[in-house]
Amino acid sequence: MTFIVAIDGAAGTGKGTIAKGISKEFNFSYFDTGIIYRGLALKTISKYGKDFIKKDAISEANIFDINSVNESEIRNPLIDKYSSIIASIPEVRNIVVNIQRNFGEKSKGHEGIVVDGRDIGTVIFPNANLKLFISASLEERAKRRFSDFLDKNEKISYNEVIKQLQKRDQRDKERSVAPLVAAKDAHLIDTTGINIEETLKIVSSLVIKEFNDYCNI
Ligand code: DC
Repeated sequence: MTFIVAIDGAAGTGKGTIAKGISKEFNFSYFDTGIIYRGLALKTISKYGKDFIKKDAISEANIFDINSVNESEIRNPLIDKYSSIIASIPEVRNIVVNIQRNFGEKSKGHEGIVVDGRDIGTVIFPNANLKLFISASLEERAKRRFSDFLDKNEKISYNEVIKQLQKRDQRDKERSVAPLVAAKDAHLIDTTGINIEETLKIVSSLVIKEFNDYCNI
């Protein structure tokens, strides 16, 4: 059995940075599950255009190859929006669940794996050893996103970033299958006003405690 750290939270809460930091510190493998929905959104739009129908996204999910995803093409406002739309299709999620669990299986060469997303602690790995649910205020998340977009020369205003985050939150929280919600046994961490170093210290001590218990079983 691999030690699993499940990290869930809305866009811009810092969960990806936390997940990467923890995987580096403990030499665990890392899996960003959002990459699948982002890659699928790009493939579906490229083939069928923005007016694609449900069936198009499902057929792309059936032939999806995670190795074909190019990081530099999937981090932009268009893919932010369409990944969340595609992620709300129950049939797509059914297919993606298996891709995610298989990745967990493949990571067994490592002592641990850090997985981040929206439904990791609730649906994908409900028996994860440590579950974290990360939050931050809308304004703080928008500031972080906006600064990422500025770095990449994306032409988008701060107000538009706020609007897009609100829409995405609503879609991710209100969808019928695997909505964004904290697992009952998740540690809740609000990163508003806390920098990444401090956040990593908090998370790291939780990992150490759980990992020690796990090794002593
Ligand atoms: O984490 P992210 O911003 O890269 O995710 C992009 C979209 O994918 C997000 O708006 C919702 C969806 N997603 C999901 O529904 N379930 C996951 N486990 C990961 C991402």
